[in-house]
Amino acid sequence: MEIHVRSLDPNAADEVALVAARMRETIVEVLGKARGGSLYDAAFLESRVREHLDRDDAAVLLGLLGTTIVSHVILRVEDEAGLFGTLYVAPDARRLGVAGALVGAGEAWMRERRLSRARTYTHPANAPLHALFGGRGYVLSPISPDFVKLERPLGAS
Ligand SMILES: CC(C)(COP(=O)(O)OP(=O)(O)OC[C@H]1O[C@@H](n2cnc3c(N)ncnc32)[C@H](O)[C@@H]1OP(=O)(O)O)[C@@H](O)C(=O)NCCC(=O)NCCS
Repeated sequence: MEIHVRSLDPNAADEVALVAARMRETIVEVLGKARGGSLYDAAFLESRVREHLDRDDAAVLLGLLGTTIVSHVILRVEDEAGLFGTLYVAPDARRLGVAGALVGAGEAWMRERRLSRARTYTHPANAPLHALFGGRGYVLSPISPDFVKLERPLGAS
């Protein structure tokens, strides 16, 4: 099935709620249910999504398989670099190239803003994310017991 990437529709409350719910899924998957399950409530997560829709220096992209939204990524500018915030692909849509398509679209968004670097942060044990970004030339450096940074320069293409 074909992969499409588009921006979240700010007027679509169901899309905001879906991304917020999947932000929770991401936290639970990365940190475990005990630590991540009760960290943030739905209203807080929806307000976090909306915050990124109201700013010129941020965006929320959706990944679709056919007409089904299976993925999202949150983008913003941080210290003159482009930051990938939460990136999530529904379990039954994984290993089909959806995250790769979203990261490519995110890098294009960053280049349009003339940002010279792209980065993301994740847990030291998040091997799939390390493989995804590592395969695209991002270099991993430890930040703390809970975080590593993956970063690369953004060339012209
Ligand atoms: C990490 C994640 C976004 C990858 O999404 P995906 O759509 O399956 O990734 P893609 O199909 O685009 O994979 C592209 C490449 O990344 C690497 N990769 C992705 N998942 C991998 C895995 N589980 N194990 C090893 N390599 C992996 C591979 O090199 C893959 O290429 P290949 O399939 O041709 O071998 C997805 O597993 C996910 O949503 N995980 C939970 C949420 C999460 O951890 N988000 C980040 C929080 S900071």
